[in-house]
Amino acid sequence: MKALILSGGMGTRLRPLTYTTAKQLVPVANKPILGYVIDHIKDAGIKDVGVIISPETGEEVKKYIDNGRSWGIKVTFILQSAPLGLAHAVTTARDFLKDDDFIMYLGDNLLSHGVKDAIKKFKNESPAALIFLKEVNNPKQFGVAKLDSKGNILKLIEKPKRPPSNLALVGVYLFSKEIHKAIARIKPSFRNELEITDAIQELINMGSAVMSEILDGWWLDTGKKDDLLQANDVVLDEYVKRQIDGDVDSQSQITGRVTIGSGAIIKESIIRGPVIIGRDTEVINSFIGPFTSIGNNVKISDSVLEHSVILNNSTLCGIDRLEDSLIGKGTKVVKRNTHHKALRLMVGDDSSIEV
Ligand code: TTP
Repeated sequence: MKALILSGGMGTRLRPLTYTTAKQLVPVANKPILGYVIDHIKDAGIKDVGVIISPETGEEVKKYIDNGRSWGIKVTFILQSAPLGLAHAVTTARDFLKDDDFIMYLGDNLLSHGVKDAIKKFKNESPAALIFLKEVNNPKQFGVAKLDSKGNILKLIEKPKRPPSNLALVGVYLFSKEIHKAIARIKPSFRNELEITDAIQELINMGSAVMSEILDGWWLDTGKKDDLLQANDVVLDEYVKRQIDGDVDSQSQITGRVTIGSGAIIKESIIRGPVIIGRDTEVINSFIGPFTSIGNNVKISDSVLEHSVILNNSTLCGIDRLEDSLIGKGTKVVKRNTHHKALRLMVGDDSSIEV
């Protein structure tokens, strides 16, 4: 079995961050989302991995993956000239995939558990496709499945007005070579993309077996700011351990599960976990509340923040209260006068803001 990771696309919903960074490389708890995806694929024992990249962000993705060296996998990069849909990405990867079974994993999706068990089921039962489903509160915003009593898929409907269930399609799929036949039969959708939902529906129309597996753990699609903050909450909650490598002075208080990287300096500050603070970051006379990830080489002084993601090389100074925010790389947020209002920001890389 091979793996195909989709790490192209436009990432328009995460602009301005995605003007300068591939969305799959935006960190969650200080680790790029793509890193978690590759961990899952490696844990499932798959060593032959294709990665779809775009002309705009391909080089950055290649640099991060570094030919799979730190995971011990073999990586083939496949350039998709334009983001013409998930099924178009599969077609673009045809030479790499050959007629092999494969797992397709969207590079901006995060799952709590790995995919080992589903792969076992796929190998035992040999359907044309096995898709993952998750119960959601707002099925109108997703691709939704209608199932028979055995869990076989009867129909898939993209963003239905009247959803037949609350089971949404997750961004991880297992396919046999049948999928290529189905893709060859579909036409681009109204948004001019070859949709994988249409291709799976075509498999059903062709009479091929399409099975499903309902996820019991969490699933997060990190395509928008609030989704990304939610992913940050869940990952911090689950994985962060108390580990303090940097220097903390005697006037500071560190409570709960807090990771502080080497070379970091914490002075006269309170930090309440779960929080992760990267290497060489300085926190001075500040309060860092729960569910905050702060990258490397960040400077925070005289500020209060919580439930936020601050990327590398940024500066926050004199901010009375910052929450629910995502701050891009190399950004400065500096308060010039004092009135007490919470700030809610989504700021792109290399911005400079005075408030
Ligand atoms: P989407 O989030 O559906 O698309 P997008 O990245 O273009 O984002 P937006 O809608 O905000 O503009 O894509 C899901 C994943 O698949 C994501 O990791 C990007 C990747 N992808 C490709 O590799 N090729 C494609 O043609 C498309 C549409 C997406």
